Amino acid sequence: MAAITQNSFLSSNHLQLFKPNSKTKPIIAPTSVRMSLQETAPSIAVVGVTGAVGQEFLSVLSDRDFPYRSIKMLASKRSSGKQYTFQGHDYTVEELTEESFNGVDIALFSAGGSISKQFGPVAVNKGTIVVDNSSAFRMDENVPLVIPEVNPDAMKGIKVGTGKGALIANPNCSTIICLMAATPLHRRAKVLRMVVSTYQAASGAGAAAMEELELQTREVLDGKPPTCQIFKQQYAFNLFSHNAPVLENGYNEEEMKLVKETRKIWNDMNVKVTATCIRVPVMRAHAESINLQFVNSLDEHTARDILKNAPGVVVIDDRVSNHFPTPLEVSNKDDVAVGRIRRDMSQEGNNGLDIFVCGDQIRKGAALNAVQIAEMLL
Ligand SMILES: NC(=O)c1ccc[n+]([C@@H]2O[C@H](COP(=O)([O-])OP(=O)(O)OC[C@H]3O[C@@H](n4cnc5c(N)ncnc54)[C@H](OP(=O)(O)O)[C@@H]3O)[C@@H](O)[C@H]2O)c1
Repeated sequence: MAAITQNSFLSSNHLQLFKPNSKTKPIIAPTSVRMSLQETAPSIAVVGVTGAVGQEFLSVLSDRDFPYRSIKMLASKRSSGKQYTFQGHDYTVEELTEESFNGVDIALFSAGGSISKQFGPVAVNKGTIVVDNSSAFRMDENVPLVIPEVNPDAMKGIKVGTGKGALIANPNCSTIICLMAATPLHRRAKVLRMVVSTYQAASGAGAAAMEELELQTREVLDGKPPTCQIFKQQYAFNLFSHNAPVLENGYNEEEMKLVKETRKIWNDMNVKVTATCIRVPVMRAHAESINLQFVNSLDEHTARDILKNAPGVVVIDDRVSNHFPTPLEVSNKDDVAVGRIRRDMSQEGNNGLDIFVCGDQIRKGAALNAVQIAEMLL
């Protein structure tokens, strides 16, 4: 890891990433000066660089030695002028404007849907390939929605160097984590119906939500009323239905993303998906309980073997020690962990499975997935 250690969020260190200090330039400490700066490599821009996902973009680019000839760090006017050090070079955060994309080959966007809607098309018109983390374009039929391990063909033909701009959408973090585990099983036995219950971390709501959870935890332990600015209700020592707006059908937007994005990514408009999304007071990494009903028979042993061999997936399924995936264990990790793999006894034969999945949603659910997409553009 470039800047974060496995359990760094247990100390107050995790917040250093999100609190640039003008004296010490703390963001992305130069663990080493890498060889990523290359004259023939693409120029890249990170939009929303000061945020939770933006910071993770830098970590992932560094960890994977992503080649670039220049990198622009972009955020709002509020952050303009902040100084960061990345891979041994000093950078100044610039305010995002339409001119920001002049000469940029690949732009990694994570500044929210409205910013993507406003600036994504501008960037594309300038020949930039935009990999967007927001929900702005995910359901646009002309925009590929890509998990590299699942549907890389959806972005076939989009390459840097053609002079043509394009938009590629990163799926919702819960969808990515779910489909990383469900797709290898779907390929073998075809999912007829999927029931997902999520346990989503503070980090999914951005850097400010992580800070609020930490603050509230201290306040509650000190017997003080919790500060509720990001979420309307107490988050520390509590859990609640996902904060996304609730729609007329009773589902919230986060749940409907799981439904609609799964259909688009699997290119299967008939797959039945239902979801209940819950925020839990975990700092980082989402967990999901997934119930699967298959068209064809798939026993749990075969399923375990399939998952063991699936790219980007690790199996943690130790019944004897009662050791299964946890958000802590997957935090700052690339792989999605799967456990509790068992036959669903409520279904006939071997046509149903229950699994429990954990994944770092800032990493595989956002930044890593987007950088993997960017790698496929080269
Ligand atoms: N967190 C996750 O796990 C996750 C996962 C998947 C997708 N996403 C998506 O990624 C996006 C960012 O999420 P986040 O969690 O990183 O949020 P965040 O921590 O709140 O960061 C938001 C970023 O957007 C920038 N920004 C805000 N207004 C801007 C403007 N007018 N112009 C330019 N930049 C602006 C902020 O810059 P300032 O610091 O200057 O305000 C900051 O860099 C959202 O669309 C979110 O849905 C997040």
